[in-house]
Amino acid sequence: MQSNNVNMNNAAPKSSTATSLLSPYQYLTKILCAPVYEAAINSDMDYLASLSTELKNKVYLKREDQQPVKSFKIRGAYNCIRHLTDEQKAAGIVAASAGNHAQGVAYAAKKLNIKATIIMPETTPEIKVEAVKRFGGNNVTVVQSGTSFDQASDLAKKLCAENGYSMIPPFDHPDVIAGQGTIAKEMLEQNPNLEYLFVAVGGGGLAAGIAIYVKQLRPDIKIIGVESVESACLTAAMEKGAPVTLPTVGIFADGVAVKTIGSETFRLCQEYLDDVITVSNDEICTAIKDIFDDTRVIAEPAGALSVAGIRKYTKQYKLQGAVIGGVLCGANINFHTLRYVSERCELGEQKEAVFAVKIPEAKGSFKAFCAMLGGITITEFNYRYAKSDEAHIFVGVKLKRGMLELQALLKRLNKNGYECFDMSDNELAKLHVRHMVGGKPQEHINEHIFSFSFPEYPGALMHFLTKLGEQWNITLFHYRNHGAAEGLVLAGFDIDDDKRSLFDLHVSELGFEMHEHKDNPAYRLFLSGQN
Ligand SMILES: Cc1ncc(COP(=O)(O)O)c(C=O)c1O
Repeated sequence: MQSNNVNMNNAAPKSSTATSLLSPYQYLTKILCAPVYEAAINSDMDYLASLSTELKNKVYLKREDQQPVKSFKIRGAYNCIRHLTDEQKAAGIVAASAGNHAQGVAYAAKKLNIKATIIMPETTPEIKVEAVKRFGGNNVTVVQSGTSFDQASDLAKKLCAENGYSMIPPFDHPDVIAGQGTIAKEMLEQNPNLEYLFVAVGGGGLAAGIAIYVKQLRPDIKIIGVESVESACLTAAMEKGAPVTLPTVGIFADGVAVKTIGSETFRLCQEYLDDVITVSNDEICTAIKDIFDDTRVIAEPAGALSVAGIRKYTKQYKLQGAVIGGVLCGANINFHTLRYVSERCELGEQKEAVFAVKIPEAKGSFKAFCAMLGGITITEFNYRYAKSDEAHIFVGVKLKRGMLELQALLKRLNKNGYECFDMSDNELAKLHVRHMVGGKPQEHINEHIFSFSFPEYPGALMHFLTKLGEQWNITLFHYRNHGAAEGLVLAGFDIDDDKRSLFDLHVSELGFEMHEHKDNPAYRLFLSGQN
């Protein structure tokens, strides 16, 4: 992650042309002559068959995950370092980064046998620190300092001033921009029929390099920059007419978590991009799944931005029959992030919706509510007794026809007297509250808690409720469709002591796997009315 840009005037290697504005011709020359293939490969460009069919366009993806550091960053970093003078190379280099740039610099330093110091914030995940050490070997010293990119960057500048090192900036430098531009050269050679090109934007080096090259040779190709809505520093700069610093940025797509677009990258993006669009985290998760479905490759969130942009743009403008290119620009994802990605991608595709409902707390009202949902597939169900006449439900449903289907469902529920709240765009609800629905009942109830499991199939939940019958008052209910063979339910019932044997007899005849939780600390701490 680079959370801020590096000032070209004081950060660029001294021999470079960073302080002067290069002409398009100079950039073209730089790109064509960039010696990046000493370290990088000419990556494949794959046809995405399923996505192309779904979007009714021909979509091609440049596979920068095939680079030795699993991202395109090696191109710019290597090109920049390779252009240093012999004296600068001998003095050593420094870079501040917590992400792909650090890995690119480390790899290039080893390849060129140059001493590099890489400053990473103390908060950098161990896995990324280890990757930098592995790529750099004895050539690289990793220094962990500060808790933000800005602090790491300050130390890097100090080291440059004290030791005569050269700073290798992540994006705002002509040699970095030209290195990234080599991707465009390969793409035009690999598919001369391209009509649209979608490119991720963080600090703008990748987009600037691609755009300046393509627009010299094929001005007819439309180039669209794609930003995360949580770090849209180019959009903000476009609106203002000059780079602005965002107060905060979200780090889900950490590769593009940049607060300020570069000044040179902004100049080029402003001139050569046809449009810039933003995408949400849910849309990025959908794109990760799209890429996986067609290639079996797992992109990192920033690496999937261009595909998220392609999906959004083609739908928004009803674009069909076009030849479209995107760049899978990185695959350095923390494996455990996939849990979040998998949960959110259905929401991003509008294939799942979540909403909350208030229903009367009475025997049978839960089942009556489920019946009202009709044949829709339920993905999640949290029910909790609120007070003697009211219960709260948090529901997830699968959508076959997108948001129109949800609107029709909510209208039907409203008409039948249920107060509903659409939570599909509510981050707090989707991230946290869905797992925390409930709380402790304010009044005394004789609650007993059970787990049930049953074979999963469409309508299985309704079947379970029907078999359970209506004579028992449900006080708590949690169900989540995991897409697995087995449906798992946690349920609470208000059972008077003298009815307990009757309840046991009833459930033993249902044929469900069942287990009672007698003294579970999680229940006692968070859900039980009695401490
Ligand atoms: C995977 C990935 N995608 C996109 C970007 C954005 O590149 P730029 O900062 O040149 O816009 C980065 C930057 O590190 C990245 O690592």
